[in-house]
Amino acid sequence: MTFSKAAIKSLQTAKKIAVLTGAGISAESGVPTFRDPDGLWAKFKPEELANFDAFMSNPQLVWEWYEHRREIVRSVQPNAGHLALAQLEKQSEQFTLITQNVDGLHHRAGSQNVLELHGNLMRSYCIDCRQRQDEVQLSKEHPFPLCSNCGGKVRPDIVWFGEMLPLGIFEDAENAARHCDLFLVIGTSAVVYPAAALPLYAKKSGAFVIEINAEPTEISHLVDESLLGLSGEILPLLLEASGF
Ligand code: OAD
Repeated sequence: MTFSKAAIKSLQTAKKIAVLTGAGISAESGVPTFRDPDGLWAKFKPEELANFDAFMSNPQLVWEWYEHRREIVRSVQPNAGHLALAQLEKQSEQFTLITQNVDGLHHRAGSQNVLELHGNLMRSYCIDCRQRQDEVQLSKEHPFPLCSNCGGKVRPDIVWFGEMLPLGIFEDAENAARHCDLFLVIGTSAVVYPAAALPLYAKKSGAFVIEINAEPTEISHLVDESLLGLSGEILPLLLEASGF
């Protein structure tokens, strides 16, 4: 694969880099995406699983689904795309990795400055006293967890449909997008807001924006460079071509 001079120069000269990732970056690790033909939303209904009312009416079903996703994530490893971003961070003056993913694979790959916009699969908290309750054990007798502090229902620490993003995290992400020289948007269909607005803020603020995705997206025509293919293949090649 060859890259444009402008893309390589942007990587070589950027002092502040911000990155937005979506489910696509974890696809090569074996974590299902959401909107691909074999993605999660083709098999499951968001309204039955990923919102607060669904949880209150059937916490067992919701927990079974999240436990299934936790098992997948426990059994997989970060891929070359995650590792390339961790390497890029080490060699950058200022680097912010904003992710919509809840799988924790960026941290496991060694990334440090990670903003998790949609929460994390491995964390949970009590809906009543809001205490963190990460050590969730499910069993036949306890098909969904109750808080060890107050007995309230424990929920996954995931941003569900209709909920606000975690306080302050989106502000930090927006700040990084508006003040970077280079913005990479990787493996996201860019249809879920407010995350999908971040590359547009970066572009408006003068950053060079590179998209890496398996297929064209809603924002492909707005970015400076759209690289079509697998992020686990393109990212290492792009870094190598830029001398990292
Ligand atoms: P999507 O499933 O909507 O989009 C994944 C994108 O990654 C698609 O455009 C694929 O073409 C692309 N893709 C697949 N494999 C790839 C690969 N190996 N390399 C590069 N690109 C690849 O996932 P997101 O955009 O992350 O929200 O979805 C956004 C949010 O919608 C998720 O965070 C989730 C979901 O509802 C919550 O759970 C709150």
